[in-house]
Amino acid sequence: MSFRIITATLLALALSACGEQSVEQETASQSADTSQSAEAREPQAQTLTVYKSPTCGCCEDWIVHLEEKGFQTTAEHPDDMRTKKTELNIAPQYGSCHTGVSESGYVFEGHVPAKLVQQFLDNPPENALGLAVPRMPVGSPGMEMGDRFDPYDVLLLKTDGSSEVYARIEQPEQQY
Ligand code: CU
Ligand code: CU
Repeated sequence: MSFRIITATLLALALSACGEQSVEQETASQSADTSQSAEAREPQAQTLTVYKSPTCGCCEDWIVHLEEKGFQTTAEHPDDMRTKKTELNIAPQYGSCHTGVSESGYVFEGHVPAKLVQQFLDNPPENALGLAVPRMPVGSPGMEMGDRFDPYDVLLLKTDGSSEVYARIEQPEQQY
């Protein structure tokens, strides 16, 4: 009986200590962020809305890859993916099977490694639309086929429609 009370008391103390700490942290981060709008702040677990076809298996595998790396996802199945990509300003030459969109509005077209999505969101380049891995390189996240691997470029898409190489992926290990 008394043991239970002690345990409960300790637990309550531990919980209240956590609670106080998080309140302090919250206050600190709020005062540090006063110059930024709420939208500019990225929460810890980021959510990507993933537009895809309901029957796409590799899209599903990419979603699993993202979630393993700590992202949350919401899947959407538009009637016409091409129209959706046009709406999001993704030119046809950058196109792949699915399109992820961050809460901040950046696009991630195709089988972009989650770690590069994170790297991009942590420090978005100026005038960037997002990242793209055009088509579907064999061995990219969600496109695993045994030991096969085709090197590929992750492109930085810019708001003016141009692109540049954001990362060159030569080896499978570079993706994780
Ligand atoms: Cu795919
Ligand atoms: Cu896909």
